[in-house]
Amino acid sequence: MNTINPAVTSEADQYQAEPVAPVREQPEETIIEEGKTVGRPFADNAKFKLRDVNVSYGDTRAIKNISLDVAKNEVIAFIGPSGCGKSTFLRCLNRMNDSIEICKVTGSLQLDDQDIYDRRRDVVELRARVGMVFQKPNPFPKSIYDNVAYGPRIHGLANRKSDLDEIVENSLRKAGLWGEVKDRLDATATGMSGGQQQRLCIARAIAVSPEVILMDEPCSALDPIATARVEELMAEMSESYTIVIVTHSMQQAARVSNRTAYFHLGHLVEVNETNKVFTSPEHELTESYITGRFG
Ligand SMILES: Nc1ncnc2c1ncn2[C@@H]1O[C@H](COP(=O)(O)OP(=O)(O)OP(=O)(O)O)[C@@H](O)[C@H]1O
Ligand SMILES: [Mg+2]
Repeated sequence: MNTINPAVTSEADQYQAEPVAPVREQPEETIIEEGKTVGRPFADNAKFKLRDVNVSYGDTRAIKNISLDVAKNEVIAFIGPSGCGKSTFLRCLNRMNDSIEICKVTGSLQLDDQDIYDRRRDVVELRARVGMVFQKPNPFPKSIYDNVAYGPRIHGLANRKSDLDEIVENSLRKAGLWGEVKDRLDATATGMSGGQQQRLCIARAIAVSPEVILMDEPCSALDPIATARVEELMAEMSESYTIVIVTHSMQQAARVSNRTAYFHLGHLVEVNETNKVFTSPEHELTESYITGRFG
C-alpha cells in the first residue's frame, strides 16, 4: 500500500499515475520558409562555407536551399527526423553523392575557400582531407594492419616500412585500439567485435591525416561501452580535427558537439550552440523534436 497516495495501490499504478504525453505528428500549421535558418548558422573561422545548397534525387528535392558554415575544429551535430536529409547533406561535404547517378547538387560548397565541386578537383585527395566513418563498420577483408595502412599506401605517405609501421601504430593509438590489437595486427579485421571494427574504421580514417571527419551515426550499432569509447575519442580528436556527426541520439549530440543543426524535411531549421538547442530552442519545430513530440 502506498503511504503517500492511498489511491495508488500498486507499483504498476504508480507508473500509470503520470499521464504520458501523446506522440503526435509534426504540427501542420508550421510553415518553413525556404533558406531561412534561425540561430547561428555562420562562423568567423569557416572550414566549410556552404551557400544555397540544393540536392535532388531525380525530381525529388532532398535538400532545400541550405546555407551553413562549419567552423575549424568544431564538432557539429546534425539531428532531425528520419529522411530529413542529414546523410544527403553530409555526403555533399566530400562528394560521396557523386556515385549516385540521379543525385544533383547545386549551390556553393567551399572547403578552405575552394570549391569542393570544381571539375578539376581530385576527389581522392578531397576524401583524404575529408574522411568518413559510416554507420555500419566496414573494414576491408584484410588484416588489421593492412586496413590502417591502406590509405597511407595509396596516397604514398610512407616511403619506408618503418614509417608505415609508425603511422599504423599512431592511428590505432589515437583510435584507442592499440592495446587491444598490437599483438594481432595480422589477424583479419572482420573477426573483430563491432565496437573494435568501428574504432578500426576511425583509425583508418585518421591514418591519412585528414582535416575533417564526417561521421554518419557512428555509434548506432554499438553497445553503450563501445559508444562511450568512441565519444571519448571524438572529444580527443576535436582538438585537431573538424568533426561533423549525424546522430539520432540527442544525448550523444548534447555530449559531443559544440553546435547542433536541426534538419526538417530537407530544410535547415535551426543551428545554435548545442546547449541552447537542448535547453531553449528558438524554433518550434526544434522544440517539438527535442521534446519527443515527433520524429
Ligand atoms: N540514393 C538515393 N536515391 C533516391 N533518393 C534518396 C537516396 N538517398 C536518400 N534519398 C532520399 O532523400 C531524402 C533524404 O534522405 P537521407 O538519407 O539524407 O535522410 P536522413 O536524414 O539521413 O535519414 P535517416 O535518419 O533515416 O538516416 C529521403 O527522402 C530519401 O528517400
Ligand atoms: Mg541518414
